[in-house]
Amino acid sequence: MKILELGYAVVGATDIEKWRSFATDVLGMMAIDTPEGGLHLKMDGRQFRFLIQKSDTDRLFSSAWQVVDADALAEAKDELKTAGVMVIEPTDEERKVRYVQDFFSFVDPAGNRQEIFWGPISDFKRFVSPIGVSGFVTEGMGLGHVVLPALETFDATDSFWTRTMGFGLSDILRVPLGMTPSGSSRIFFYHCNPRQHSMALAEMPSPSGCIHVMVEVNSIDEVGRALDRVHQHQVPMLMGLGRHVNDEMISFYVFTPGMFALEYGWGGLVKDWTEHQVFETTSPSHWGHRLGG
Ligand SMILES: [Fe+2]
Repeated sequence: MKILELGYAVVGATDIEKWRSFATDVLGMMAIDTPEGGLHLKMDGRQFRFLIQKSDTDRLFSSAWQVVDADALAEAKDELKTAGVMVIEPTDEERKVRYVQDFFSFVDPAGNRQEIFWGPISDFKRFVSPIGVSGFVTEGMGLGHVVLPALETFDATDSFWTRTMGFGLSDILRVPLGMTPSGSSRIFFYHCNPRQHSMALAEMPSPSGCIHVMVEVNSIDEVGRALDRVHQHQVPMLMGLGRHVNDEMISFYVFTPGMFALEYGWGGLVKDWTEHQVFETTSPSHWGHRLGG
């Protein structure tokens, strides 16, 4: 299977207005009402990159992966069925709000809901941030990355994402969290395009279905300005400013209304994978990323 990018994310929300103000006032994205009572969060030429939909729980509902065309979608479906994965066909309502030609859903071995789609539909109106963010880095690399939980089924889930989904392993991180018999938890980072990682699996639980989602802005000053807005709006922080070892991103982490964290960063590596060697790090960051901010 050839996945092009993380196309969009679907988020379940008990309070749509909380997401509207978080997305516009703090992140600087555009929030557009959907006819179904949810929100499209726009951060580039696409109609949306986050779909916020009314739900009785706050969580990441699904991560959506783009393939090139209808044939690729059919092939992906066949590959999943061959691997014994149950494919879930969408309703007309679900199809309408996603602005894609076609998509289907399934659940990975760790229970994380995924979608595969082709042919995003957009009016291609330019992104105009309500608070002046100059732009997000998405071209050819997708909305950013998602880090998904895989505690008890880590090995099977890793094998599914590499063998069936066709992702490449970028690097490995081991953190002493005391959640596994060995005491350390693995985080495997995977790529499907020049972004150093578009997906990661973490050997830890997450009731909100997601450890964090990352979005990347186009200058370090946009990270600094976002940090000012985080303090101004008193948004709780998971981790302060720091620079990651693996993708070299300078970023900070805040809690979203979705009960998962969002990493807001700049300067992520753009990789040529032909020369890549998989490596393991025992520390996530060169500096910073202090818990609590
Ligand atoms: Fe991250």
